[in-house]
Amino acid sequence: MKVYVLNGPNLGRLGTREPEVYGATTYADLVALCEATGRDLGLDVTVRQTDAEHELLGWLHAAAAEGAAVVLNPAAWSHYSYAVRDACSMLRGPLIEVHISNIHAREEFRHHSVVSAVATGVICGLGVDGYRLALHHLASRLG
Ligand code: DQA
Repeated sequence: MKVYVLNGPNLGRLGTREPEVYGATTYADLVALCEATGRDLGLDVTVRQTDAEHELLGWLHAAAAEGAAVVLNPAAWSHYSYAVRDACSMLRGPLIEVHISNIHAREEFRHHSVVSAVATGVICGLGVDGYRLALHHLASRLG
């Protein structure tokens, strides 16, 4: 099964970005974790990150056209991008929203995600393990 693991702005800086919030795992480590988990589970996993909203929209449109499953960390766009939410609404496969940090325990502006209402499920606060858990869920759900 095709699964896109899509990451929004600033997540390419994982490892050096606020490690007390996001941990020491680098973005390269995260890619390797998702790819290895995908291999173990027999999923066809592609991992991407962008700081450009239009690029994420294009990836979501392509995933919708393919009927693929998506694991999405929309990062700061979670909190205000109706464009990302609308693109997520077009997906035909399951959408798991992942946040590394517990957004509900942080600043008030992070408490609401405009994406969550159109996601199949949401994982937050479990660090990068959230991505691994999301892939395990998709494998059992769709396998
Ligand atoms: C994040 C939480 C967001 O509030 C923040 O803007 C991010 C990362 C997380 O993974 O915890 O960039 O989505």
